[in-house]
Amino acid sequence: MEIKRISVMGAGAMGHGIAQVAAMSGFDVNMRDISEEFLAGGMKNIRWSIGKLTDKGRISPADADKTLKRIKTMVPLKEAVENADFVIEAAPENLKLKQQLFKEIDSYAPSHAILATNTSALSITEIAAATNRPEKVIGMHFFNPAQLMRLVEVIMGNKTSNDACNVTTDLAKKFGKEPILCKKDIPGFIANRITAPGTNLLAWMVYKGECTIEEVDAAAIYKAGMPMGIFGLMDFSGIDIAYHAMKFMEEREPNFKVSPLIKEKIEKGEIGMKAGKGFYTYPEKGKWVMPQIPPEKAEKFDPMTPTYVTVNMAAELIRNDVATPEDTDKALKLGFNMPIGALELADTLGIDLILSKLKGIEAKYGEFYKPSPLLEQMVKKGDLGTKTGKGFYTYEK
Ligand SMILES: NC(=O)c1ccc[n+]([C@@H]2O[C@H](COP(=O)([O-])OP(=O)(O)OC[C@H]3O[C@@H](n4cnc5c(N)ncnc54)[C@H](O)[C@@H]3O)[C@@H](O)[C@H]2O)c1
Repeated sequence: MEIKRISVMGAGAMGHGIAQVAAMSGFDVNMRDISEEFLAGGMKNIRWSIGKLTDKGRISPADADKTLKRIKTMVPLKEAVENADFVIEAAPENLKLKQQLFKEIDSYAPSHAILATNTSALSITEIAAATNRPEKVIGMHFFNPAQLMRLVEVIMGNKTSNDACNVTTDLAKKFGKEPILCKKDIPGFIANRITAPGTNLLAWMVYKGECTIEEVDAAAIYKAGMPMGIFGLMDFSGIDIAYHAMKFMEEREPNFKVSPLIKEKIEKGEIGMKAGKGFYTYPEKGKWVMPQIPPEKAEKFDPMTPTYVTVNMAAELIRNDVATPEDTDKALKLGFNMPIGALELADTLGIDLILSKLKGIEAKYGEFYKPSPLLEQMVKKGDLGTKTGKGFYTYEK
Protein backbone atom coordinates (compact mmCIF):
# COMPACT_ATOMS: atom_id res chain seq x y z
CA MET A 1 0.00 0.00 0.00
CA GLU A 2 1.38 3.39 -0.97
CA ILE A 3 0.90 6.17 1.51
CA LYS A 4 0.68 9.68 0.07
CA ARG A 5 -1.49 11.70 2.43
CA ILE A 6 -1.37 11.53 6.20
CA SER A 7 -4.01 13.05 8.41
CA VAL A 8 -2.97 14.15 11.92
CA MET A 9 -5.68 14.66 14.53
CA GLY A 10 -4.67 17.41 16.97
CA ALA A 11 -2.20 20.29 16.61
CA GLY A 12 -1.05 20.21 20.25
CA ALA A 13 2.28 19.22 21.79
CA MET A 14 2.45 15.89 19.93
CA GLY A 15 0.22 16.53 16.90
CA HIS A 16 2.18 19.47 15.51
CA GLY A 17 5.46 17.55 15.96
CA ILE A 18 4.09 14.47 14.17
CA ALA A 19 2.66 16.62 11.34
CA GLN A 20 6.07 18.25 10.93
CA VAL A 21 7.91 14.91 10.89
CA ALA A 22 5.50 13.55 8.25
CA ALA A 23 5.82 16.66 6.05
CA MET A 24 9.62 16.67 6.37
CA SER A 25 9.57 13.05 5.19
CA GLY A 26 7.80 14.09 2.00
CA PHE A 27 4.16 13.24 2.83
CA ASP A 28 1.21 15.53 2.24
CA VAL A 29 -0.36 16.29 5.61
CA ASN A 30 -3.81 17.35 6.76
CA MET A 31 -3.52 18.66 10.32
CA ARG A 32 -6.89 18.85 12.03
CA ASP A 33 -7.91 20.43 15.34
CA ILE A 34 -11.21 21.60 16.80
CA SER A 35 -10.58 25.34 16.25
CA GLU A 36 -8.56 27.62 13.96
CA GLU A 37 -6.86 29.00 17.06
CA PHE A 38 -5.34 25.61 17.98
CA LEU A 39 -4.29 25.08 14.37
CA ALA A 40 -2.59 28.49 14.30
CA GLY A 41 -0.74 27.58 17.51
CA GLY A 42 0.41 24.28 15.99
CA MET A 43 1.59 25.97 12.78
CA LYS A 44 3.46 28.61 14.81
CA ASN A 45 5.31 25.82 16.63
CA ILE A 46 6.09 24.04 13.36
CA ARG A 47 7.47 27.25 11.80
CA TRP A 48 9.61 27.87 14.87
CA SER A 49 11.00 24.32 14.83
CA ILE A 50 11.67 24.36 11.08
CA GLY A 51 13.32 27.77 11.48
CA LYS A 52 15.69 26.28 14.08
CA LEU A 53 16.55 23.36 11.80
CA THR A 54 17.22 25.78 8.93
CA ASP A 55 19.41 28.01 11.14
CA LYS A 56 21.45 24.97 12.14
CA GLY A 57 21.84 23.96 8.50
CA ARG A 58 19.95 20.69 9.05
CA ILE A 59 17.54 21.51 6.20
CA SER A 60 17.86 23.97 3.35
CA PRO A 61 15.56 27.03 3.13
CA ALA A 62 14.07 25.50 -0.05
CA ASP A 63 13.22 22.24 1.78
CA ALA A 64 11.82 24.20 4.72
CA ASP A 65 9.52 25.99 2.32
CA LYS A 66 8.44 22.75 0.63
CA THR A 67 7.78 21.14 4.04
CA LEU A 68 5.51 23.98 5.14
CA LYS A 69 3.61 23.88 1.85
CA ARG A 70 2.88 20.17 2.34
CA ILE A 71 0.85 20.88 5.52
CA LYS A 72 -2.80 21.86 5.16
CA THR A 73 -4.78 22.82 8.27
CA MET A 74 -8.50 22.28 8.71
CA VAL A 75 -11.29 22.00 11.26
CA PRO A 76 -13.93 19.85 9.46
CA LEU A 77 -13.17 16.21 10.23
CA LYS A 78 -14.59 14.83 6.98
CA GLU A 79 -12.35 17.05 4.87
CA ALA A 80 -9.34 16.08 6.99
CA VAL A 81 -9.66 12.33 6.55
CA GLU A 82 -11.63 11.62 3.36
CA ASN A 83 -8.47 11.59 1.20
CA ALA A 84 -6.05 10.19 3.80
CA ASP A 85 -4.17 6.90 3.47
CA PHE A 86 -3.03 6.95 7.07
CA VAL A 87 -4.45 8.79 10.10
CA ILE A 88 -2.45 9.53 13.25
CA GLU A 89 -4.56 10.63 16.18
CA ALA A 90 -2.95 12.89 18.83
CA ALA A 91 -6.04 14.27 20.59
CA PRO A 92 -6.30 14.45 24.42
CA GLU A 93 -5.74 11.29 26.46
CA ASN A 94 -9.36 10.39 27.14
CA LEU A 95 -10.87 7.05 26.11
CA LYS A 96 -14.42 8.35 25.46
CA LEU A 97 -13.11 11.24 23.37
CA LYS A 98 -10.81 8.98 21.35
CA GLN A 99 -13.56 6.40 20.80
CA GLN A 100 -15.97 9.07 19.53
CA LEU A 101 -13.25 10.49 17.28
CA PHE A 102 -12.31 7.07 15.85
CA LYS A 103 -15.97 6.31 15.18
CA GLU A 104 -16.23 9.50 13.12
CA ILE A 105 -12.89 9.02 11.39
CA ASP A 106 -13.95 5.47 10.48
CA SER A 107 -17.10 6.77 8.82
CA TYR A 108 -15.26 9.28 6.59
CA ALA A 109 -11.81 7.78 5.90
CA PRO A 110 -11.26 5.59 2.80
CA SER A 111 -11.65 1.89 3.60
CA HIS A 112 -7.95 1.20 2.96
CA ALA A 113 -6.77 3.83 5.48
CA ILE A 114 -4.97 2.72 8.63
CA LEU A 115 -5.99 4.53 11.80
CA ALA A 116 -3.20 4.94 14.36
CA THR A 117 -3.40 6.38 17.86
CA ASN A 118 -0.56 8.10 19.69
CA THR A 119 -2.09 7.25 23.08
CA SER A 120 0.46 6.95 25.88
CA ALA A 121 -1.48 4.47 27.93
CA LEU A 122 -5.02 3.72 26.75
CA SER A 123 -5.99 0.35 25.30
CA ILE A 124 -5.64 0.13 21.50
CA THR A 125 -8.26 -2.65 21.45
CA GLU A 126 -10.83 -0.47 23.24
CA ILE A 127 -10.21 2.43 20.84
CA ALA A 128 -10.42 0.06 17.85
CA ALA A 129 -13.75 -1.31 19.11
CA ALA A 130 -15.38 2.02 18.21
CA THR A 131 -14.68 1.38 14.50
CA ASN A 132 -15.75 -1.12 11.86
CA ARG A 133 -12.10 -1.76 10.94
CA PRO A 134 -10.37 -2.91 14.16
CA GLU A 135 -7.85 -4.85 12.03
CA LYS A 136 -6.63 -1.49 10.67
CA VAL A 137 -6.38 0.27 14.05
CA ILE A 138 -2.96 0.35 15.69
CA GLY A 139 -0.87 2.16 18.31
CA MET A 140 1.89 4.46 17.04
CA HIS A 141 3.42 5.95 20.14
CA PHE A 142 5.83 8.83 19.52
CA PHE A 143 7.98 10.32 22.27
CA ASN A 144 8.11 14.01 23.10
CA PRO A 145 9.36 16.03 21.24
CA ALA A 146 8.31 13.97 18.22
CA GLN A 147 10.65 15.95 15.95
CA LEU A 148 13.72 14.84 17.91
CA MET A 149 13.00 11.57 19.68
CA ARG A 150 13.82 8.60 17.47
CA LEU A 151 11.80 5.94 19.30
CA VAL A 152 8.32 4.96 18.11
CA GLU A 153 6.42 2.11 19.75
CA VAL A 154 4.12 0.25 17.35
CA ILE A 155 1.40 -1.50 19.36
CA MET A 156 -0.88 -4.26 18.11
CA GLY A 157 -4.46 -4.24 19.37
CA ASN A 158 -6.16 -7.65 19.79
CA LYS A 159 -7.49 -7.49 16.22
CA THR A 160 -4.72 -5.53 14.45
CA SER A 161 -3.58 -7.29 11.27
CA ASN A 162 0.03 -8.06 10.41
CA ASP A 163 -0.42 -5.96 7.27
CA ALA A 164 -1.36 -2.88 9.28
CA CYS A 165 1.59 -3.57 11.55
CA ASN A 166 4.03 -3.80 8.63
CA VAL A 167 2.71 -0.63 6.99
CA THR A 168 2.99 1.28 10.28
CA THR A 169 6.50 0.00 11.00
CA ASP A 170 7.61 0.96 7.48
CA LEU A 171 6.05 4.39 7.84
CA ALA A 172 7.90 4.98 11.13
CA LYS A 173 11.14 4.09 9.31
CA LYS A 174 10.28 6.51 6.48
CA PHE A 175 9.90 9.17 9.18
CA GLY A 176 13.52 8.41 10.13
CA LYS A 177 12.42 6.76 13.39
CA GLU A 178 13.44 3.52 15.09
CA PRO A 179 10.23 1.52 15.57
CA ILE A 180 9.95 -1.17 18.22
CA LEU A 181 7.11 -3.67 18.20
CA CYS A 182 4.79 -4.32 21.13
CA LYS A 183 2.95 -7.44 19.96
CA LYS A 184 0.21 -7.30 22.61
CA ASP A 185 -1.98 -4.51 23.91
CA ILE A 186 -0.73 -4.38 27.51
CA PRO A 187 -0.74 -1.56 30.09
CA GLY A 188 2.28 0.74 29.64
CA PHE A 189 3.24 -0.93 26.32
CA ILE A 190 7.03 -1.52 26.39
CA ALA A 191 8.84 1.65 27.49
CA ASN A 192 6.61 2.78 30.36
CA ARG A 193 5.83 -0.76 31.44
CA ILE A 194 9.45 -1.73 32.03
CA THR A 195 10.48 1.54 33.72
CA ALA A 196 7.53 2.76 35.82
CA PRO A 197 7.55 -0.16 38.33
CA GLY A 198 11.25 0.36 39.22
CA THR A 199 10.68 4.04 39.94
CA ASN A 200 7.54 3.20 41.91
CA LEU A 201 9.49 0.68 44.01
CA LEU A 202 11.98 3.41 44.96
CA ALA A 203 9.06 5.61 46.02
CA TRP A 204 7.73 2.73 48.16
CA MET A 205 11.17 2.22 49.75
CA VAL A 206 11.35 5.90 50.69
CA TYR A 207 7.74 5.82 51.94
CA LYS A 208 8.54 2.86 54.19
CA GLY A 209 11.64 4.59 55.54
CA GLU A 210 14.11 2.12 54.07
CA CYS A 211 16.10 4.91 52.44
CA THR A 212 15.82 8.62 51.72
CA ILE A 213 15.25 10.48 48.45
CA GLU A 214 18.73 11.94 48.69
CA GLU A 215 20.33 8.52 49.27
CA VAL A 216 18.62 7.08 46.19
CA ASP A 217 19.59 10.04 44.01
CA ALA A 218 23.15 10.25 45.38
CA ALA A 219 23.69 6.56 44.58
CA ALA A 220 22.38 7.06 41.02
CA ILE A 221 24.67 10.05 40.45
CA TYR A 222 27.85 9.11 42.31
CA LYS A 223 27.79 5.31 42.02
CA ALA A 224 25.98 4.65 38.72
CA GLY A 225 27.24 7.79 36.95
CA MET A 226 23.80 9.02 35.95
CA PRO A 227 23.54 12.72 35.15
CA MET A 228 20.57 13.08 37.53
CA GLY A 229 18.94 11.14 40.35
CA ILE A 230 15.66 9.30 39.78
CA PHE A 231 13.65 11.65 42.02
CA GLY A 232 15.44 14.66 40.55
CA LEU A 233 14.54 13.42 37.09
CA MET A 234 10.86 13.05 38.07
CA ASP A 235 10.94 16.66 39.35
CA PHE A 236 12.52 17.76 36.09
CA SER A 237 10.03 16.09 33.77
CA GLY A 238 7.01 16.41 36.09
CA ILE A 239 5.82 13.96 38.77
CA ASP A 240 2.40 14.11 37.06
CA ILE A 241 3.91 12.48 33.94
CA ALA A 242 5.37 9.60 35.97
CA TYR A 243 2.11 9.28 37.90
CA HIS A 244 0.07 9.09 34.71
CA ALA A 245 1.86 5.95 33.53
CA MET A 246 1.78 4.41 37.02
CA LYS A 247 -1.91 5.13 37.60
CA PHE A 248 -2.77 3.37 34.39
CA MET A 249 -0.79 0.31 35.47
CA GLU A 250 -2.58 0.39 38.84
CA GLU A 251 -5.99 0.43 37.13
CA ARG A 252 -5.23 -2.54 34.90
CA GLU A 253 -2.63 -4.63 36.75
CA PRO A 254 -3.57 -6.60 39.84
CA ASN A 255 -0.93 -6.27 42.62
CA PHE A 256 0.45 -2.97 41.30
CA LYS A 257 -0.04 -0.04 43.69
CA VAL A 258 1.30 3.47 43.20
CA SER A 259 3.37 4.55 46.22
CA PRO A 260 1.58 6.99 48.56
CA LEU A 261 4.72 9.16 48.33
CA ILE A 262 3.86 9.93 44.71
CA LYS A 263 0.10 10.23 45.30
CA GLU A 264 0.70 12.77 48.09
CA LYS A 265 2.81 14.92 45.76
CA ILE A 266 0.03 14.89 43.17
CA GLU A 267 -2.65 15.74 45.76
CA LYS A 268 -0.62 18.69 47.05
CA GLY A 269 0.18 19.92 43.53
CA GLU A 270 3.88 19.56 44.27
CA ILE A 271 4.60 18.09 40.88
CA GLY A 272 8.21 19.15 40.43
CA MET A 273 10.23 22.00 38.94
CA LYS A 274 7.24 23.48 37.08
CA ALA A 275 5.40 23.93 40.42
CA GLY A 276 8.49 25.19 42.30
CA LYS A 277 8.30 22.12 44.54
CA GLY A 278 8.42 18.41 44.05
CA PHE A 279 10.71 16.01 45.86
CA TYR A 280 13.08 18.98 46.08
CA THR A 281 12.37 22.73 46.31
CA TYR A 282 13.17 25.17 43.48
CA PRO A 283 13.72 28.91 43.92
CA GLU A 284 11.71 29.76 40.80
CA LYS A 285 8.80 27.88 39.17
CA GLY A 286 9.83 26.27 35.89
CA LYS A 287 13.53 27.05 36.32
CA TRP A 288 15.76 24.03 36.69
CA VAL A 289 18.34 24.06 39.44
CA MET A 290 20.14 20.78 40.05
CA PRO A 291 19.47 19.61 43.64
CA GLN A 292 22.76 19.57 45.55
CA ILE A 293 23.34 16.21 47.23
CA PRO A 294 26.48 15.38 49.22
CA PRO A 295 28.40 12.37 47.76
CA GLU A 296 28.57 10.61 51.15
CA LYS A 297 24.80 10.05 50.95
CA ALA A 298 25.52 7.51 48.18
CA GLU A 299 27.13 4.98 50.51
CA LYS A 300 24.13 2.92 51.63
CA PHE A 301 21.95 2.52 48.55
CA ASP A 302 22.30 0.03 45.68
CA PRO A 303 21.77 2.13 42.51
CA MET A 304 20.87 -0.99 40.51
CA THR A 305 17.64 -1.53 42.50
CA PRO A 306 15.29 -0.15 39.79
CA THR A 307 17.25 -2.04 37.13
CA TYR A 308 16.44 -5.41 38.78
CA VAL A 309 12.75 -4.55 38.43
CA THR A 310 13.13 -3.32 34.85
CA VAL A 311 14.88 -6.58 33.93
CA ASN A 312 12.07 -8.56 35.51
CA MET A 313 9.39 -6.62 33.60
CA ALA A 314 11.36 -7.04 30.36
CA ALA A 315 11.83 -10.78 31.00
CA GLU A 316 8.05 -11.16 31.28
CA LEU A 317 7.58 -9.35 27.96
CA ILE A 318 10.00 -11.76 26.31
CA ARG A 319 8.49 -14.85 27.96
CA ASN A 320 4.99 -13.81 26.84
CA ASP A 321 6.15 -13.03 23.30
CA VAL A 322 5.29 -9.34 23.60
CA ALA A 323 8.70 -7.94 22.69
CA THR A 324 12.25 -8.99 21.83
CA PRO A 325 15.27 -8.33 24.07
CA GLU A 326 16.64 -5.98 21.39
CA ASP A 327 13.43 -3.92 21.32
CA THR A 328 13.16 -3.65 25.12
CA ASP A 329 16.75 -2.39 25.30
CA LYS A 330 16.11 0.00 22.41
CA ALA A 331 13.15 1.43 24.36
CA LEU A 332 15.47 2.37 27.22
CA LYS A 333 18.29 3.72 25.10
CA LEU A 334 16.19 5.76 22.68
CA GLY A 335 13.20 6.60 24.90
CA PHE A 336 15.10 7.44 28.09
CA ASN A 337 18.61 8.16 26.80
CA MET A 338 20.11 5.34 28.84
CA PRO A 339 23.66 4.52 27.78
CA ILE A 340 23.01 0.76 28.04
CA GLY A 341 19.91 -1.43 27.89
CA ALA A 342 18.71 -3.15 31.09
CA LEU A 343 19.12 -6.61 29.55
CA GLU A 344 22.65 -5.86 28.39
CA LEU A 345 23.33 -4.69 31.94
CA ALA A 346 21.65 -7.80 33.39
CA ASP A 347 23.96 -10.01 31.33
CA THR A 348 26.96 -8.14 32.72
CA LEU A 349 25.76 -8.23 36.33
CA GLY A 350 24.72 -11.90 36.11
CA ILE A 351 21.21 -13.33 35.86
CA ASP A 352 21.78 -15.24 39.12
CA LEU A 353 22.41 -11.97 40.94
CA ILE A 354 19.30 -10.37 39.41
CA LEU A 355 17.20 -13.36 40.48
CA SER A 356 18.40 -13.30 44.07
CA LYS A 357 17.87 -9.52 44.32
CA LEU A 358 14.33 -9.88 43.00
CA LYS A 359 13.54 -12.59 45.54
CA GLY A 360 14.55 -10.14 48.27
CA ILE A 361 12.39 -7.39 46.76
CA GLU A 362 9.41 -9.74 46.41
CA ALA A 363 9.72 -10.83 50.04
CA LYS A 364 9.46 -7.21 51.20
CA TYR A 365 7.23 -5.59 48.58
CA GLY A 366 4.93 -8.35 47.39
CA GLU A 367 3.78 -10.48 44.51
CA PHE A 368 4.17 -7.84 41.78
CA TYR A 369 7.94 -8.24 42.00
CA LYS A 370 7.91 -12.06 41.82
CA PRO A 371 10.84 -13.08 39.61
CA SER A 372 9.87 -14.01 36.07
CA PRO A 373 9.90 -17.78 35.39
CA LEU A 374 12.22 -16.92 32.47
CA LEU A 375 14.90 -15.73 34.91
CA GLU A 376 14.47 -18.91 36.99
CA GLN A 377 14.86 -21.02 33.84
CA MET A 378 17.92 -19.10 32.68
CA VAL A 379 19.63 -19.64 36.02
CA LYS A 380 18.74 -23.37 35.98
CA LYS A 381 20.19 -23.71 32.47
CA GLY A 382 23.30 -21.78 33.40
CA ASP A 383 22.54 -18.90 31.02
CA LEU A 384 23.91 -16.37 33.46
CA GLY A 385 25.11 -13.70 31.06
CA THR A 386 28.56 -12.68 29.83
CA LYS A 387 30.32 -14.95 32.35
CA THR A 388 28.80 -18.08 30.77
CA GLY A 389 28.64 -16.79 27.19
CA LYS A 390 24.86 -16.69 27.10
CA GLY A 391 22.19 -14.65 28.85
CA PHE A 392 19.57 -12.52 27.10
CA TYR A 393 22.20 -12.22 24.36
CA THR A 394 24.94 -14.58 23.18
CA TYR A 395 28.62 -13.72 23.63
CA GLU A 396 31.77 -15.14 22.14
CA LYS A 397 33.75 -16.89 24.84
N1 LIG B 1 2.84 15.15 25.64
C1 LIG B 1 3.55 14.03 25.69
O1 LIG B 1 4.65 14.00 26.27
C2 LIG B 1 3.05 12.80 25.01
C3 LIG B 1 3.96 11.81 24.62
C4 LIG B 1 3.49 10.68 23.91
C5 LIG B 1 2.13 10.55 23.68
N2 LIG B 1 1.26 11.52 24.10
C6 LIG B 1 -0.16 11.33 23.78
O2 LIG B 1 -0.48 12.12 22.66
C7 LIG B 1 -1.84 12.55 22.74
C8 LIG B 1 -1.88 14.06 22.64
O3 LIG B 1 -1.14 14.61 23.71
P1 LIG B 1 -0.60 16.10 23.67
O4 LIG B 1 0.39 16.22 24.77
O5 LIG B 1 -0.22 16.48 22.29
O6 LIG B 1 -1.93 16.90 24.09
P2 LIG B 1 -2.28 18.44 23.82
O7 LIG B 1 -3.32 18.79 24.81
O8 LIG B 1 -1.05 19.27 23.73
O9 LIG B 1 -2.94 18.44 22.34
C9 LIG B 1 -4.15 17.82 22.03
C10 LIG B 1 -4.79 18.62 20.91
O10 LIG B 1 -5.90 17.86 20.43
C11 LIG B 1 -6.94 18.79 20.15
N3 LIG B 1 -8.22 18.10 20.09
C12 LIG B 1 -9.16 17.94 21.04
N4 LIG B 1 -10.20 17.22 20.56
C13 LIG B 1 -9.89 16.91 19.27
C14 LIG B 1 -10.57 16.20 18.24
N5 LIG B 1 -11.76 15.67 18.47
N6 LIG B 1 -9.97 16.10 17.02
C15 LIG B 1 -8.74 16.64 16.80
N7 LIG B 1 -8.06 17.32 17.75
C16 LIG B 1 -8.63 17.45 18.96
C17 LIG B 1 -6.83 19.83 21.24
O11 LIG B 1 -7.51 21.03 20.88
C18 LIG B 1 -5.31 19.98 21.34
O12 LIG B 1 -4.83 20.98 20.45
C19 LIG B 1 -2.40 12.00 24.03
O13 LIG B 1 -3.04 10.79 23.78
C20 LIG B 1 -1.13 11.76 24.86
O14 LIG B 1 -1.30 10.75 25.83
C21 LIG B 1 1.68 12.65 24.74
